[in-house]
Amino acid sequence: MQPSDYRKGDSSWFVRDRFGLFIHWGLYAMPARHEWVKHAEQIPNEDYDSRYFSRFDPDLYDPNLWAQAASQAGMKYFVVTTKHHEGFCLWDSQFTDYKAPSTPARRDLLKPMVEAFRSQNMRVGFYYSLIDWHHPHYILDRHIGPYRNHPDREKMNQGRDMRQYAAYMRNQVKELLTDYGKVDILWFDFSYPKEDGSGKGRKDWESEELVALIKKLQPDVLLDDRLDLPGVWDIKTPEQVQPRQWVTVDGQRVVWEACQTFSGSWGYHRDEMTWRSSDQLIRTLIDCVSKGGNLLLNVGPTARGEFDERALSALQDIGLWMKRHSRSIYGCTQAPDEFACPQDCRLTYNPETQRIYVHMFAWPYKHLNLTPVFAQRVAYAQFLHDGSEIKMVLDEWHAKQLSANKSDAILQLPQVKPNVAVPVIELYLKA
Ligand code: GLC
Repeated sequence: MQPSDYRKGDSSWFVRDRFGLFIHWGLYAMPARHEWVKHAEQIPNEDYDSRYFSRFDPDLYDPNLWAQAASQAGMKYFVVTTKHHEGFCLWDSQFTDYKAPSTPARRDLLKPMVEAFRSQNMRVGFYYSLIDWHHPHYILDRHIGPYRNHPDREKMNQGRDMRQYAAYMRNQVKELLTDYGKVDILWFDFSYPKEDGSGKGRKDWESEELVALIKKLQPDVLLDDRLDLPGVWDIKTPEQVQPRQWVTVDGQRVVWEACQTFSGSWGYHRDEMTWRSSDQLIRTLIDCVSKGGNLLLNVGPTARGEFDERALSALQDIGLWMKRHSRSIYGCTQAPDEFACPQDCRLTYNPETQRIYVHMFAWPYKHLNLTPVFAQRVAYAQFLHDGSEIKMVLDEWHAKQLSANKSDAILQLPQVKPNVAVPVIELYLKA
């Protein structure tokens, strides 16, 4: 498939909504040592399944609580691991027994989740792992998976047929796109082609056929960029990094979304302690939007079906900030180049309302210096959290003391930082 043959999905809502929840939930919540635990500890199927699959029972699972927590944090969409690399499916797939209804959970866990998030007006995204550490036809390679170092790996591959696995994926994706209403995002993960053919990529997944099927079923769905088909994707997905600037491909700015975790793991990891502060998370969201991107922030629910209390309290803090500041996030993007970003700040811009938002990552003394373009273009300035006016005029004495350029715009600020995680100044541009 040529990039020119690919009809892009509908990203108009995506670049407005800006903030989503990633959910990594599967059997790996039980070992609680990272979603790659089966690979990392080279756990054979029999052990993994007798320990976890046979006991998976999220008795406290209430997706309404999840959806409420996400919505109150200001998130507008969610993406859930319908199947992660371990191969376990959260929904009632006809094509495998390796699924939630066959565990003590005894039900489709996906359907009520989709309903709960939709009832909060959130859009629906499905993560689907291309990698599969359980499927009997998935060829075991030497790079990834619990059997990568196994002495009998080649023998174990006898009779395995990746074409059957690719057909299985198409069947499952068809289910996901048929039985759950409108799906807004499909998030495939991931390809690792190698020069010598020992990895896996588009030929193994039969990516082109998969995309053709998807486009037939739900043409507007957004696809991530991990199917190993150059140019055939809607969203670039930098992972666990913060891009330095608007993400480009061949010199063109593209739709992008950073995906990041609260701590160092996607799946629930009991003993992982590198949790970022709420302030850091809020700044990350702002930083994404200031570079024209989205943030997909991940939570790994526990084996009993709850969000970790640390995740819940961070979501609450984010929600507190978003309640008063979401105007600088929704519908916003990078500010036009002529507006130079002031010291220690991030700018966002709403092209529809023609407002610029100055996010102050550090509090100055009593003044914020903006370049002359602002002086020419700004009609009115106020704090976003309380709608209180910020004056722009300055007497000669102050201008001199500040060594400000005569034509600069100087905002006069209170000496004490407002009591919000990141203060935001809303600038109304002249019509
Ligand atoms: C990765 C990991 C993974 C996680 C994902 C999210 O490639 O394999 O566990 O699901 O990225 O971006």
